[in-house]
Amino acid sequence: MSKNLSALSGRKGMQQNLFDKMGKVSVNDGGTPSFQHLEQLADEFLMGDANTYGSITAYDFMKPENRGKEIYICNGSACLCAGTQDRVHDKVMQHFDAEAVGHMTCLGRCHENSSFHYDGKNFSGNSIDHLEELIREKKGGQNGRYSVTPVKPLLTEPFNDIPVFKNLLQETLKRPADKLLQEIKDSQIRGRGGAGFPMGIKWEGCRNEISTDKFIICNADEGDPGAFSDRYLLEERPLSVLFGMLVAGLCTGANWGVLFIRAEYPEAVNILEQTVQELYANHLVGENILNTGFTFNFKVIKAQGAYICGEETALINAIEGQRPEVRTRPPFPTQQGLFLKPTVVNNVETLAAATWIIQHGGSEYAKLGTEKSRGTKLVSLDGLFNKPGIVEVEMGTPLEKVIYEYGGGFRKEVKALHIGGPLGGIVPVEKIPALSIDFESFAAEGFLLGHASIVCIPQDFPMIKYLEHLFEFAAFESCGKCFPCRLGTRRAHEMLHSAAHDMKPINLELFQDLLSTLQQGSLCAHGGGIPLPARNALQYFGEELNLHFN
Ligand SMILES: Cc1cc2nc3c(=O)[nH]c(=O)nc-3n(C[C@H](O)[C@H](O)[C@H](O)COP(=O)(O)O)c2cc1C
Ligand code: SF4
Repeated sequence: MSKNLSALSGRKGMQQNLFDKMGKVSVNDGGTPSFQHLEQLADEFLMGDANTYGSITAYDFMKPENRGKEIYICNGSACLCAGTQDRVHDKVMQHFDAEAVGHMTCLGRCHENSSFHYDGKNFSGNSIDHLEELIREKKGGQNGRYSVTPVKPLLTEPFNDIPVFKNLLQETLKRPADKLLQEIKDSQIRGRGGAGFPMGIKWEGCRNEISTDKFIICNADEGDPGAFSDRYLLEERPLSVLFGMLVAGLCTGANWGVLFIRAEYPEAVNILEQTVQELYANHLVGENILNTGFTFNFKVIKAQGAYICGEETALINAIEGQRPEVRTRPPFPTQQGLFLKPTVVNNVETLAAATWIIQHGGSEYAKLGTEKSRGTKLVSLDGLFNKPGIVEVEMGTPLEKVIYEYGGGFRKEVKALHIGGPLGGIVPVEKIPALSIDFESFAAEGFLLGHASIVCIPQDFPMIKYLEHLFEFAAFESCGKCFPCRLGTRRAHEMLHSAAHDMKPINLELFQDLLSTLQQGSLCAHGGGIPLPARNALQYFGEELNLHFN
């Protein structure tokens, strides 16, 4: 990260955002910004051309290889395990040249698979059978509905009404900021983005910083293949997410809320843009809200296809128009975040939960869940469940119940569940009874709750191929800042690829050594976390994997 570039990028304020402009010119220039436009942007922001060019080459949807891409096939874990993508690929190739076909990971259509992105919209399920029609008519998107099971409805409780939003805002603005923050602290809520950091402590840290400019960032870059619970909230509870950001602004003294939403969720981007406009039209955001003197503005920024932007400091670099590289900490974002100003980065689900907490009280929230995991959690169930979709359960709910009762069990024989995204653990089915949906139970058993997405690995899906897929993803998405991850994920992928396709055995000692180097030497949890599923697979599927290791 360059402090000079952060400052230069911030000079023009949030409305004139460099990254936003890069994304927009890339669309107009056929998939990647022209050199002329990159030079103009560099001049406008007083940077060198190398900065703007270097940045765009790090994002899938802006880099030069993206030029001319017309259709993207999902290559995420859930579609892979469902075995639907070869058919999607064959159908796509009947209509498009190979150069026009790209990949996206993943579209959040894990509940019905066969996912692809065409003409700026997402499709899944049996849409691929109507591809010819879609190309001819170029209309509409397919909404990709899923079942929502609100076992304990907090986040799934309806909150989609501007008058309800206004009433709550009026009431909230009457309360002192320190009392609102106390509600958040009383709730004992921990962040839902993966790390489980206490929200109250984060907000207090930002509040205590002295600065005229502070930012609240909603991390809507839900990149974990298999997860689509943030997509659910963005598309179906946008007011709840936005209200949570406003409360964060009140508590910390921030006046800007930035929603960084992944390009793979085009519907979510549109919905949030419309909802923000509606709030402006109703004077519920902007200058001097409801004549209280409080000012809070929103900016929606469409991400450009880099998984590592889910990591909060890479995300901040992205918004600044820099390459999405992870920053070293300290300083933490609450001290020096966006444009080097105090910044809170929270996950979509955490922010939506803040709205419920302010509505109902922190102590009510704290009554739910377990000692160290309060409240509820959204769980994403993929297409191999009989009832795929979103389930909201109280923390501490037995995993068995989620899988067999709310998810209706599996459509085919399954040997393992990959829970919590690519960096989460691989849970063999016999371990299901030992787990409940909370941070402690997963940690105690050597797994990770993460964002609580569940991808089923079928009995007949070779574990070596699953590991190969994971390390291919990890290598492709590494930001490259630290060498254990930049080189280690690639070497591991090469080993797994040769083992899976050429029957070349892997030296187990060397592989374990590589995993330890990744875990101990990586700067962030991308390289540091990817050994977990590999170790789980070796521990629980040793017999199956034996063939590939010596
Ligand atoms: C590789 C990587 C990917 C991540 N992806 C996401 C993500 O997609 N969404 C998210 O909210 N947090 C993600 N995180 C965690 C964020 O860095 C950060 O901890 C989180 O946004 C903080 O929000 P919370 O406190 O509400 O959980 C990721 C972290 C890493 C290391
Ligand atoms: S671990 Fe990987 S993603 Fe994280 S900083 Fe290092 S190279 Fe970047």
